[in-house]
Amino acid sequence: MSKISAAITCVGGYVPEYRLTNSILETMVDTNDEWIRTRTGISERRILKGEGLGSSDMGVEAVKDIFRKSNVKPEEIECLICATVTPDMMFPATANIICDKAGIPNAFSYDIEAACSGFLYALTTGAALIESGRYKKVIVVGVDKMSSIIDYTDRATCIIFGDGAGALLLEANDEGYGIQDSLLKSDGSGRKYLHMKAGGSVKPATAETVAAKEHFVYQEGQAVFKFAVKGMADVSFELMQRNNLTADDIAWLVPHQANLRIIEATANRMNLPNEKVMINIQKYGNTTGGTLPLCLWDWEKQLKKGDNLILAAFGGGFTWGATWIKWAYNG
Ligand code: UT7
Repeated sequence: MSKISAAITCVGGYVPEYRLTNSILETMVDTNDEWIRTRTGISERRILKGEGLGSSDMGVEAVKDIFRKSNVKPEEIECLICATVTPDMMFPATANIICDKAGIPNAFSYDIEAACSGFLYALTTGAALIESGRYKKVIVVGVDKMSSIIDYTDRATCIIFGDGAGALLLEANDEGYGIQDSLLKSDGSGRKYLHMKAGGSVKPATAETVAAKEHFVYQEGQAVFKFAVKGMADVSFELMQRNNLTADDIAWLVPHQANLRIIEATANRMNLPNEKVMINIQKYGNTTGGTLPLCLWDWEKQLKKGDNLILAAFGGGFTWGATWIKWAYNG
């Protein structure tokens, strides 16, 4: 019997309409378009507006995109995994809410929280469910409404993040397409550089924590930058080495979109030219769980059956990792 792999057979995506441009940010904090573009590569980001809308509402749109584009019916989905740091609520899981809103009646569903690497963790977990032979159709969602945890008076963080969602359909495959290998890492001692100070069990929300702005992203940008450059480049290189892949074998690097300079450092380490690197940070910023599937959503038409893709990410935790995918269809 041939080995079962988890092929990606459809990509869905959603970004909100509202564009928060660098020139609008110039009116909100002491910053300028030139600084933002040269330090990060970002020109604008999408923001989810509207009372009562959360991450699940974007996740649902990405999932519905899959049902519009593929022949798969909601009833056939056996599991849905959602990577997010901005769940609708502390509980229940946003994945449960997405299934309810998208009319997916038969799936078990849960969230994975690994910050900017969350989507890679969720993808690897979803693929393992299929590789076990027990499940045939799994959806993996990456979504964040970063605008809900950003302090728009803090110029060091508010220029970076945006809102968005992407989703992948994973199906059992016996021809060897799909997820080939993953190398995932974490180091909780990095938490001091990137975290949310209050709202968890250590420091539950109080009027004081709200007044002290402790429910927003806290980031020591320079420290995170140094770890990110090394972590993302090292893990991508290690994944290539242990699979005997050279730059010529790789059609695309799909990097987490946190900072253009981090992306370029990773591509350099892998010896990949710019034209093999997916970059959409200029239009979406850093959507945390959403970046990797949104790249695949934007590039889907250019992807060819058999293409080798390396997905790579680094984020809070610290968490980081890389995944090698053999693409299963012509876009
Ligand atoms: O996805 C999760 C993981 N996160 C990341 O990977 C983020 C990694 N870090 C970064 O991408 C970068 O560190 C940032 C984009 C956050 C900041 O860029 P930087 O080149 O590291 O800038 P910096 O923090 O060293 O600040 C340099 C200067 C400072 O001024 P002084 O002290 O030199 O006078 C900042 O106050 O730039 C100033 N600055 C700004 N100036 C204009 C900081 N933010 C801004 C701003 N506009 N928005």
